[in-house]
Amino acid sequence: MTILVAGATGNAGRQVVHELLALGQQVRALTRNAATARLPAGVEVVEGDLTRPETIPLDGVTGVHLLTNAGDDYAELQTGPELVLRAEKAGVRRVTVLWSGYRSPLEEAVTASSLEWTVLRPVDFMSNALVWAESVRREGVVREPFAYARSALVHEGDIGAVAAAVLVRGGHGGRAYTLTGPEALSVPEQVATIGAAIGREIEYVEQTEAEARAEMLATRPVEVVDAILGWKRDMPAQGYTVTKDVEDVLERPARSFALWARERAGAFLSGAGTR
Ligand SMILES: NC(=O)c1ccc[n+]([C@@H]2O[C@H](COP(=O)([O-])OP(=O)(O)OC[C@H]3O[C@@H](n4cnc5c(N)ncnc54)[C@H](OP(=O)(O)O)[C@@H]3O)[C@@H](O)[C@H]2O)c1
Repeated sequence: MTILVAGATGNAGRQVVHELLALGQQVRALTRNAATARLPAGVEVVEGDLTRPETIPLDGVTGVHLLTNAGDDYAELQTGPELVLRAEKAGVRRVTVLWSGYRSPLEEAVTASSLEWTVLRPVDFMSNALVWAESVRREGVVREPFAYARSALVHEGDIGAVAAAVLVRGGHGGRAYTLTGPEALSVPEQVATIGAAIGREIEYVEQTEAEARAEMLATRPVEVVDAILGWKRDMPAQGYTVTKDVEDVLERPARSFALWARERAGAFLSGAGTR
C-alpha cells in the first residue's frame, strides 16, 4: 500500500508525509524538483507535475493527497477530470483534497468520482506567521493590516494528521471538514503570543491596506495578493469560526497557536527552521 502526496514539499504536505510515516505507511512524495525536495529518509521521492497528469506515477497507489492549485501563481488546476480518471484506472481507493478557498474544478471532479473522497478545508495556516520572522528578528516589529480581523488559525501539523488519518483509517468518505485551531485570534493577539514564546516584546504596527499590498506585490503575483487581502479584509465566517472537525477526526484537541509559537520560536529568534 503506497500513498502519493502532492505538495509534499509545502507547509501542509510536509506534515502529511510526516504523519503518514508515523503511521507506518509507504509514502510516494510528489515534487517538480527532487533535487531541492529535502524529504525525509524512507520516502520515495518522485518528480511529476499536476498540470500534466501523465507525469503522476500512480502504479501501486491506494491513497492520494491532492492540491487544488499549482504553480508559483497558485493557479486553479484544470486537470482534475484527467487526474481522477487516471486514479480510478490505477485502483486508487481514497483521496483527500486540500481546498484553497473556493470550489475548484479539481474538487468538482473528485467529488463526482467513484473514489472515497474527503475534502479538507483548512482556514489560515499558523505557518503564515513565519512571514513576520524577519522583521521580528531585525526590528522587533510586525506590520500587518486589519487589526480587527480574527482567524481560527489551524496548526499545519493538524492538517497533516487529519489527512493521514483519513487516508489510512478510512471511514470519512463523502465528507468535507473545515479544519481550524481551538480559538480565533486577531493579529495583535498572535503577535503577543509569539512575543510570549520568545520572551521578547514585539511591537504591532497596523499597516494600511495599500502599504500591505505594495509590500506583498514584491514577492507574489497580483491575483494572489488580491485574494489574500480580500480574504483578510472581509473574512467569511468560516475563517473565524472554530470547528470541532480536527478533534472529531483525531480524537484529541486541535493544537493551539501558543504551542505552534513555542515550536517555531527559533524562526523568530535566529531564523532557524523557517520551513
Ligand atoms: N496558507 C494558508 O493559509 C492556506 C489556507 C487554506 C488553503 N491553503 C492551500 O493549501 C495548499 C498547500 O499550501 P502550502 O502552504 O502547504 O503550499 P506551499 O508551501 O506554497 O507549497 C506548494 C506545494 O505545491 C507543489 N506544487 C506547486 N505546483 C505544482 C505542480 N504544478 N505540480 C505538482 N506540485 C506542485 C509544490 O511542490 P514542488 O515545488 O516541490 O514541486 C509545493 O509542495 C495550497 O493549495 C494553498 O492554496 C493555504
